[in-house]
This record gives sequence, C-alpha cells and structure tokens, in this order.
Amino acid sequence: MIRFLLISVLLISNVAQSQQKVDPDFIRGKMQWFADAKLGIFIHWGLFSVRGVDDSWTFYSKKMPYSEYMAQMKGFTASAWDPEKWADLIKESGARYAVLTSKHHEGMALWGTRMKHFNTVENTPAKRDLLTPFYAAIRKRGIKAGVYFSMIDWSHPDYPGFLNDSSRYRSADDPVRWLKFRTFYQGQIAELSKLVDPDLWWFDGDWEHSAEEWEVEKVRRDILISNPAAIINGRLLGYGDYDTPEQNFPVSRPIYNWWELCMSMNNSWGYHPSDTLYKTPYEVITIFADVVSNGGNLLLDIGPREDGSIPWQQVNILEELGGWNKRNGEAVFGTLGGIPPGHFYGPTTLSKDSSTLYLFLSGNPSTVVVKGLKNKVNQIGILGSSFKPSIKVVGKISWSAVPGLLYIDVPAAAQDKYMTVLKLELDGPVSLYRGKGGL
Ligand code: GLC
Repeated sequence: MIRFLLISVLLISNVAQSQQKVDPDFIRGKMQWFADAKLGIFIHWGLFSVRGVDDSWTFYSKKMPYSEYMAQMKGFTASAWDPEKWADLIKESGARYAVLTSKHHEGMALWGTRMKHFNTVENTPAKRDLLTPFYAAIRKRGIKAGVYFSMIDWSHPDYPGFLNDSSRYRSADDPVRWLKFRTFYQGQIAELSKLVDPDLWWFDGDWEHSAEEWEVEKVRRDILISNPAAIINGRLLGYGDYDTPEQNFPVSRPIYNWWELCMSMNNSWGYHPSDTLYKTPYEVITIFADVVSNGGNLLLDIGPREDGSIPWQQVNILEELGGWNKRNGEAVFGTLGGIPPGHFYGPTTLSKDSSTLYLFLSGNPSTVVVKGLKNKVNQIGILGSSFKPSIKVVGKISWSAVPGLLYIDVPAAAQDKYMTVLKLELDGPVSLYRGKGGL
C-alpha cells in the first residue's frame, strides 16, 4: 500500500510534469464512468485459443516449442464469430465496458497492423481486422471500448526477451536495436488510437523494462493528446489511472481511488478446455459484490474459441450474473463502496447521496444484523421482491447514545436465487456509531 501511495504521488507529479497542468477535477470527471461501471468483460482471444493452451506463456516457459505455438496462426479462423452476439451477451451480463486482447505477449495483432508484424489479416485464415467490428458492436449498445495491449512482444525480432532462459540481446547493450522496437510498439499504439480510439487502455507487460526504456511518459502523453478523456490502467510503471490486482482478492479495502480486479472464470485467461475448474455463478456474484462493496470494479474474463464461439460454461456465468444484475443492479451500478466492516457481516454499498444502504446477504441467511447505525430506517425492502421485511431494534438503552442492534428477518421465499440484497432507506446520509459501547 505504501508502494501504491508512493506510486500515486509519483504518478500525480509525473503526470503533472508531462502534461504541464493536471486538473484533479478533470481526472475525477474522466474517471466517473469507470467508477460507476462496476463490471467489465475481459476477452482473451488470440493464437492460444486455437489449441486451447495457456496464453503466450506456454512457449515462453517452454511447455511448447515456439514454432508449434506460432503454428496456431494457421488455425485461427474466426469462422463462427458474430461480434453482435458477443456484444449482446456482454450487454446482457450488465457490463458497462469490455476489454479485448488486441495483441498478447506473443505478438499477433488482431488488426491489420502496418508495422510489419504478425496479424490476423495477413497471417491467419480469419483474414480480417477483428477489432473494428467488435468495438462498433459494443459501442452501439453503449458499452465502453477497452483495448488490452501487450507492450512485451516476444516474437518481434528487435524485442530483447524471448524464452524464460534466453533473450536476443540486452536493451542497454544495443540502444539502436531497442529504439527500433520502441518505435515499432509506439507505432502500434498510434494505430490503435486511430482505429479504435479506446475509452480505456489496458496495458500489460510493463515489468520487462524500465519506465525510461519504454518511454511510458511519452506513451501516456501521446494517448491523451489523441483523446484527453482516455483512461489508462495501472500497468504503465506509475503512469496509469487506476490499480489492477489480478486474480487474488484484496483482503483489506484498497485505499486508492480507483481499482479493478481482473479475474478469470476458471484458472485460465484464454480458451482452455482441459481447465474445468470454473467458479460457480454464486461464487462469481459474491466476489463481484465484495469488489463493489470495496469500491472497485470487476473485470471478468472470458476465453472464446478460435472460431469465435464462447464455451457454454462462460455463457452461463454471464447470463446468470446478468439475471442477478437485473434484479439487484440498483445496489451495484453507480453506487459507492459501502460502510466499514464491523457493522454488517457481508458486502454493502451506498447510494451516491449515502442515504440508501444496501446489504448483500452472502449465503442467504434468514436473519441478519446491523450494528452501530445511528440513522432511522424509513423504509426497508428486498430488491426484486415486493416482500417488506420487519426490523427489530434490540438493546437500545434510552439514556445511551449507542444505537441498538438492527435485526432483520428475511424469509426464504423472498430470497434471491444467488444473493439477496436489502435496501434500507435512511433518514439522511448514513451515520455510524464507531465507539466501544458502554456509557
Ligand atoms: C498477466 C499475464 C497475461 C494475462 C494478464 C491478464 O499479465 O502475463 O498473460 O493476459 O495477466 O491480466
């Protein structure tokens, strides 16, 4: 966390230097849609989708020879791909943005790059730019366009890194060759700026070089010149706008303003038929509620097959999540992270004016309790149900300022299939007793 604070300070000062003037209101303004969005869909689609192997790491860590991995280009057809269907499914899940892998670490671009490198137009039977139709389809449905781009490019002849135990050269020893690569990768970013004009850039792979070597300050500046409102994820060595924990849930509430947990549905980012360890819809929904309760977003990943079809397990999770969002989205989208732990055993959120408190019931218990709520509850309801639970205030002592315990009964018949949400309309902005009890 201290590291993050330092990075934040660096980020603000670096950004301030690079853009001369950074208006915090402008940053907050441009981040607003992201703060309200809560759910994004990550899509890992690329060469690895052909044989269903681990993404680019497979050859890097020598689980498969490089030539065999790259031969998957011959099998990438996109033959059953319907971007409108993808967009419908994303919309149905409730997601407000989507992030597609425009290029993974192995280097194959999903658009017809002019930078003389592997791409779906020239090197695969798909023979087409896959980005343009996808982003058009989602934008038509009001979904924001996020582009994943790997700065690492293990296939590029001028990129130093190759396999985990060998590299082509050291960037420090051959600055001219490194400069060639840098010009290439920044050229691809410029192409994407023009082709997609992303609302959000999702960089990956910054760890292989320093901020100076990558010239991340320039990368950020160029992106913002082209689109000042573009949001940049936190994998740009201190030059991003928000943090990106991966797979593992932060146990304590992150302190930074904006964050996003990226998470796969099983244990693989891309299509991987032998990985059947899928999370259940209940697990995904409860993780999602926990993220939102802690003020973050969930970027939930799917891994389509090479032909563009999506495995049924993934479709099912998106549909179930979407159904839950339809019933309970009021407590999720456009809300604020909830009250601190200790007041309620489970996730909570607040309306923007903090006068409505939502309680998420993990495991659908029949009775829950809220502690230390000073407000009067004007109304209580269950989202997606007309049943009105009753509240019993227990232990309120007339002469003490300590609020009583609020016991709420929730009958099984009124519960959501996955996770019930209670809506408490308070008499004003939430006010909590944080003391130790007693007199
Ligand atoms: C990691 C992995 C990459 C994956 C990404 C998703 O950076 O290197 O394979 O695409 O995480 O967050």
